[in-house]
Amino acid sequence: MQPTLDFIKQLAIDAGKILQDMADGELDIQHKSEKDLVTRVDRASEDFIIGSIKKAFTDHTINAEESGHTSGTAEHQWFIDPIDGTLNYAHGVPFYCVSIAYAYLGEVTLGVVYDPVRQECFSAELGEGAHLNGKPIHVSSYEKLVDCMLSTGFPGNKWGEPDDNLHDFYHFSLAAQTVRRLGSAALDLTYVAAGRLDGFWEKSVHNWDIAAAGLIVHEAGGVATNVFGSSDYLKEPISIAAANPIIHPQILEVLAKVRLEYS
Ligand code: IPD
Ligand code: CA
Ligand code: CA
Repeated sequence: MQPTLDFIKQLAIDAGKILQDMADGELDIQHKSEKDLVTRVDRASEDFIIGSIKKAFTDHTINAEESGHTSGTAEHQWFIDPIDGTLNYAHGVPFYCVSIAYAYLGEVTLGVVYDPVRQECFSAELGEGAHLNGKPIHVSSYEKLVDCMLSTGFPGNKWGEPDDNLHDFYHFSLAAQTVRRLGSAALDLTYVAAGRLDGFWEKSVHNWDIAAAGLIVHEAGGVATNVFGSSDYLKEPISIAAANPIIHPQILEVLAKVRLEYS
């Protein structure tokens, strides 16, 4: 059996409530690596989401950040980020979200990204458009990169390596109006879907970061690919470039130019 979009929206909203209720308490921060954290709130949110899914859909496969992959049927798959923007959350910066996607037969058909701070619920169902709190959203209509506000993210464990995104950041800073680094790939992407940002790229992400928001961008009239231009962006190695259909090729062009120049 497949879930409904309303089921996923309620899950994300309830998980978001956990984030807000626990924000002022002891976070019990643990280091997954030197610069990557997990808090007890990540675990509480993920336990709640997985528990609710498993209760309703006993045989579904779950890919979730903190607990890894649980086996189930390949027909039904979930991608869960219990807090996207954990560093922001742990520092008290109010830019983070809950991200939940469902895929049927290998294709993401339902996606929800919920921002509990602003109580903004971004959602999409394949073929049915993208919505913010029930109202349709669309990507922006800028045609030139120089008019665009872009956003990106950096891999915390690759500084000094050719793929650390710094050359890309420099070249996009020259070519675009400005570039932001907000700290939640899922929320950044939904801002592209809502036309608040005009484009986003990140060279190293996970499926739970982008599965829901990628569908939301697509349903908002945008284009999402990996940084090489493939629409199969959930295939390893996972990366993302998203924007409206006119800006998207311009983003790929800059990425290709940087690759060539620094390879
Ligand atoms: C991270 C955030 C960040 C992005 C990283 C992600 P997390 O997710 O989305 O903006 O740059 O690539 O891993 O660790 O906060 O769930
Ligand atoms: Ca994440
Ligand atoms: Ca996370």
